[in-house]
Amino acid sequence: MAQLWGGRFTKETDQLVYNFNASITFDRRFYREDIEGSMAHVKMLSSAGILTGEEKDRILEGLQGILADVENGVLEITPEYEDIHSFVEANLISRIGDAGKKLHTGRSRNDQVALDMKLYTRKEVTELKGLVKELLQVLHGLMKEHVDTYMPGFTHLQKAQPITLAHHLGAYMEMFKRDYGRLCDIYQRMNTCPLGSGALAGTTYPLDREMTAGLLGFEGPTLNSMDSVSDRDYLIELLGALSTMMMHLSRFSEEIIIWNSNEYRFVELDDAYSTGSSIMPQKKNPDIAELVRGKTGRVYGALMQLLTTMKGLPLAYNKDMQEDKELTFDAIDTTKGCLALFTGMLRTMAVNRDVMEASAKKGFTNATDAADYLVNKGVPFRDAHGIVGQLVLYCLERNIALDDMTMEEFQKISPVFAEDIYEAISLETCVEKRVTIGAPGRTAMEKVIAVNEAYLETLE
Ligand code: ARG
Repeated sequence: MAQLWGGRFTKETDQLVYNFNASITFDRRFYREDIEGSMAHVKMLSSAGILTGEEKDRILEGLQGILADVENGVLEITPEYEDIHSFVEANLISRIGDAGKKLHTGRSRNDQVALDMKLYTRKEVTELKGLVKELLQVLHGLMKEHVDTYMPGFTHLQKAQPITLAHHLGAYMEMFKRDYGRLCDIYQRMNTCPLGSGALAGTTYPLDREMTAGLLGFEGPTLNSMDSVSDRDYLIELLGALSTMMMHLSRFSEEIIIWNSNEYRFVELDDAYSTGSSIMPQKKNPDIAELVRGKTGRVYGALMQLLTTMKGLPLAYNKDMQEDKELTFDAIDTTKGCLALFTGMLRTMAVNRDVMEASAKKGFTNATDAADYLVNKGVPFRDAHGIVGQLVLYCLERNIALDDMTMEEFQKISPVFAEDIYEAISLETCVEKRVTIGAPGRTAMEKVIAVNEAYLETLE
């Protein structure tokens, strides 16, 4: 047991208590951030005249040595230390002696851990943005390719009106654009430095908080030391954003599972992204999409866990907050994995254009257009709706499509119908006439694709 405290204790910590309390098994993950934060702190202590230049140099050298040894696998982070902060400090002291004992001047583990977690999360937000960007690029490529790939659009999972695959994918494009924006917002809001807040009430040393904030790439220092050590809002925001992102991935996965089913056959997942059955030789299962859908629950769980942990905590730091780590790490790892796999699955997926188009032709997806046709000929919409309803019933009884009806049959139901009805309800017309902003018609789609193209250029 290697602890940083103990002076006021007369007994050893019970081993079970030690294990229960320790965080080294999971906070070892941010050893780099912990060392980086300590380096900035030491530079500032020296510039403020709290440490000598010589002490600063020895400490920096020691910290650099620890970092290098951990990275090269020479130095192992073992559970005999209570947490990553104790590990680094104990190692520093054993390397450089007394100067190492000055590292923690004007600092508490409370502001230290707040800093480490922010540094770590900030880096992860950048990586997440990169993964969302890749997904957006793949979606954009597919949209450009499928402006003319007709398919049925659904409501209630019932065929509704014809759309294109580009249009359908465009809906997800918008969702992931918002997800990207949320990550940017979070980054901006979280980018303030808690270092120098001490345990809760600042310190009596003349710390230059602007300097450490600047050295660590923050916009500036946080403005209330109590809030600094007990703020976990940015993690809750991040988990909220990740939950929303997973919800989008999960909906998309669900659609791909349906599209890839034997009944639909709209798409076929690549062999590299499918799995087989141990008993049924014919099977090719969409396990990746199912796992993405399944893992969504894990990320939602993390959000609920942290919200619940934070609820009712009095100011300032409480040990409950140590619980923020494992769940956040897991949610980030899970979302990153899902984003990467989903993007690969989408990139390699084959689209069965003919099947999609044939499906759009069936199921009366042009019924609204038939009604609109009558409206254009002067029939009030409500009457037109009723007339087309009769047409549908007529066709259902004969198992034919509206397009299969003869002119005679059309006119028997309403004399308003003329030869141009066939053109008006053709799949192509139904889609291509929908050119309001955001609609699936080619001219509308091309405008959106151009907007997206310019948007993608702006992403870091
Ligand atoms: N492992 C702790 C955490 O993650 C570090 C802060 C400890 N501070 C304390 N006063 N015990 O929150």
